Order: sequence, then C-alpha cells, then structure tokens
Amino acid sequence: MSIVVIIPAAGTGSRFGGQIPKQFQPLAGKPLIQHVIERFLLDEAVSRVVVPVAELLLSSVKNSERVVFVGGGQTRQESVIRGLAETEGAELIAVHDAARPLFTTELFHAVLDAARELGAAVPIVPVTDTIHVMNDDATVKQTLDRAMLGAAQTPQCFRAEILRDVLARAQAEGVEGTDEAGLAARFGYSVKAVPGDPRNLKITLPEDLELAESYVRQWSSQA
Ligand code: CTP
Ligand code: MG
Repeated sequence: MSIVVIIPAAGTGSRFGGQIPKQFQPLAGKPLIQHVIERFLLDEAVSRVVVPVAELLLSSVKNSERVVFVGGGQTRQESVIRGLAETEGAELIAVHDAARPLFTTELFHAVLDAARELGAAVPIVPVTDTIHVMNDDATVKQTLDRAMLGAAQTPQCFRAEILRDVLARAQAEGVEGTDEAGLAARFGYSVKAVPGDPRNLKITLPEDLELAESYVRQWSSQA
C-alpha cells in the first residue's frame, strides 16, 4: 500500500502577517513546516511527501528520496492539484496543511484506516462556539444549529482515484473549496468523520503560535 502525503505550503499567511509566511515561522526552534515534514518522514508507511511551495522558493530547496518540492498555485486547492502530479502509484493520498504542526501519528493512521475502508476521511472536532451567519453591515442574521456543525482538520485521506476525480471535477466546474473533504462530499462521495484532536490547531494568527508553543512545552516536560 503506497501512501503519499501532499503538504500545501505555498500560502502567504496574510492573516498571520509578519515578514515570512507562517509555515516558516519557528516553533520550538524549527520552522512549522519542518515539524510537519519530519513527522511524516518518521512514519514508515509514508513512501513520499510532496510539498507545493511558492515558485520563487523552488531554487532554494532540494528534493530527496522521499521529499519532492513542486511549485504551488494561487489557492490552496491549486497547490494541492500541482502536488498531485508527483503522486503516481499512490493508493492512498493524504493532504495536510503545512501550518498544522501538532498532528499526531495516531490521528493520521486513524484517518488513513477510515479512508482505506470507505474511500475518504477527515478529522472533525465539535464546534464549541455559537456560529452566526452575518449580514454585510456586521449585524447577526441567523444562528446555525451547532449540533450539525463539525470543524475540519487535516490530515485528510483519500483513495487516490477519489482525490484525483474530485479535484479534476472541481477544476472543470470552477469550484473552489477550502478543503478536499468538502469537495469530495460535494461531488457525491461519502466522507467519514474521524474524531479530530483539539490540539491539532492550524496556525492562522500569531496567538495560535503562542498556544502551540505552550503545548510543545507541556509535551516535552512530560516526555
Ligand atoms: N496554501 C497553499 N497555497 C496557497 C494558499 C494556501 O499551499 N495558494 C497552504 C498554506 O501554506 C497552508 C494551507 O494551505 O499550509 C492552509 O491554508 P491557510 O491556513 O489559509 O494559509 P494561508 O493561505 O497562507 O493563510 P491566509 O489565508 O491567512 O493568507
Ligand atoms: Mg488561506
């Protein structure tokens, strides 16, 4: 069973701000993206990681036996599509945000197992805030039923032919999704929810990085 991981890392981190995109910010002394790549490489089940990065970075990175860098796109979805070109022979493909350094191997394997069985799977955590639909004038329009909501994390895993089909159809129909699980559901595939991990946060704002630092400190003091 060949497993390839695509790690989209071509974003600019506009909400995070700063001089360098957030995926290159240090966490516990090394860039977020390095945490992510290294954790996947430690996993013997992973045959290759494919990392879409900004085109201008391509000359400064070096491919190795199990790590291949490709030029990313204007959107996350486009970056993942570029990554697909380096996944020939994969039976399962995982997609994981470069900005999510705290995923565990246990979570990854739970999602892989579900995808192997059902075709597509995503880690989901319950939504704890009340979510409102807003009007343009910053007033509340309507409240969603929280019991029906789930917040998606990565790694999201797919049988390769399903991910290829979903992304080809999205591209053909001009549909832009913020994750692959949502696209797969939209195009009629059943997508299994696996219990996510609240600590597997996506670094979006500087505060998220502070929280991630505190988790890493807790873990290293427990180790
Ligand atoms: N991503 C990508 N190519 C893009 C946009 C995003 O590969 N054109 C990647 C990001 O690098 C990140 C992941 O997709 O690892 C999740 O996206 P997000 O958290 O939204 O990151 P950014 O788009 O960089 O941040 P922002 O939306 O705040 O600009
Ligand atoms: Mg973004």
